[in-house]
Amino acid sequence: MTNESWELSKKYDADFIPTSLPIVIERGQGVILTDSTGHQTIDLGDIIANVGHSHPRLVQAIHQAAANMIVGKGSWTNPERARLMQRLVELTPANLDKVFFATSGSEIVEWAIRMARRLTGKHEILSFWGGVYGRTLGAISMNGLQKRRRKYGPLLPGTIHAPYAHCYHCAFDKKIESCNFYCVDYLDRILEFESTGDLACLIVEPYEGVGGLLFPPPGYLTRLQSWARERNVIFILDEIQSSFGRTGKMFALEWENLSPDILCVGKGMGGGVSIAALVASTPLADALAPGEMSGGNGGNPLACASALAVIDILRDENLVENSYRVGEYMLARAREWQKQFALVGDVRGRGLCIAVEFVKDRATKEPARGFAHTLSERCYPKGLAVHGMDHILALRPPLIITADQATRAMDVIEETIKEMVA
Ligand SMILES: Cc1ncc(COP(=O)(O)O)c(C=O)c1O
Repeated sequence: MTNESWELSKKYDADFIPTSLPIVIERGQGVILTDSTGHQTIDLGDIIANVGHSHPRLVQAIHQAAANMIVGKGSWTNPERARLMQRLVELTPANLDKVFFATSGSEIVEWAIRMARRLTGKHEILSFWGGVYGRTLGAISMNGLQKRRRKYGPLLPGTIHAPYAHCYHCAFDKKIESCNFYCVDYLDRILEFESTGDLACLIVEPYEGVGGLLFPPPGYLTRLQSWARERNVIFILDEIQSSFGRTGKMFALEWENLSPDILCVGKGMGGGVSIAALVASTPLADALAPGEMSGGNGGNPLACASALAVIDILRDENLVENSYRVGEYMLARAREWQKQFALVGDVRGRGLCIAVEFVKDRATKEPARGFAHTLSERCYPKGLAVHGMDHILALRPPLIITADQATRAMDVIEETIKEMVA
């Protein structure tokens, strides 16, 4: 399978990830990926191609925008950018009425923090164990995964980390039936010892994506939002992964009717063209001086036209509903595996964002290290590109996946688990 692109990457890529499968993807159409050998796989491991790969309407919108004007002119606006801002304000909760664009989620998170600091005049940020909010120095300071923070020297002062509500591995060893969201109440205790009394904001994901697709129980985010409001703490919801239909709602906040002070969106927003945004309430946006939130490529017409096309496609093809419906099917199938295979410890998810966690022992929940990774490598020759994060299998297909394709995908995974446990 090795070919020239693989060798060139090995030689020049500053972030080359050695894997046992030297795969070079040459083409993506719908949910199907084709590699350099002509081998085709169903893409089950994507968080960007929400409308599928190279959707014809998206391609057309990109062609048109590129032929018209690619470069956004600094502080001037352009029609695509203006329309996209309007669409985002219409789609998001009523308290959010101002939009800012950037080219990546990490940048957007940085701006959200800057807004919160400016408005409150405070500097501390509360974030969560297992959370990943980006890759810039500010964002990694907030990240709740040690491996994403270590060995960069001192990070942003004033970042405070607290346990997330991941009930399968509850940090307090409590049960959801009786805990009454102890982890939210415990935040006060953390602040009592960790804070200088200067907390500006908290940032949280509706589910922790990079951390292992960790879904909190229903009601947790509502409690967290109230906790923040009662203490005048800016509530930032990081939907960079979960936005645009991934969880079976346009935005995951709709599951609990949340109204964050700042909503961060990105990833699948441009269907592969880089764009991310924050939607905030006026007082937050006004806390920064005009012109302060600039950025070279943010809000360029090509990226905005792509995002508009993605939003139209999601609506016209009922892809958010499809995400919910096919997601329910896949979740039910994965829950069957829990009955069938002792090493399936936890199955969780919403919409087309599902995690299967493999454990050595159900009682101790000790991770079956590498199992999902090996499983994903074994699925590839059978026509399935799925992401194995160590012991957690992440199922995140484009939202256009059909029930038949989902069935085929789940059959392949099931058959491969059987082979591996035999
Ligand atoms: C929840 C969340 N926020 C922010 C980011 C950073 O986004 P980007 O990779 O576009 O900088 C990520 C990236 O994985 C993410 O999952």
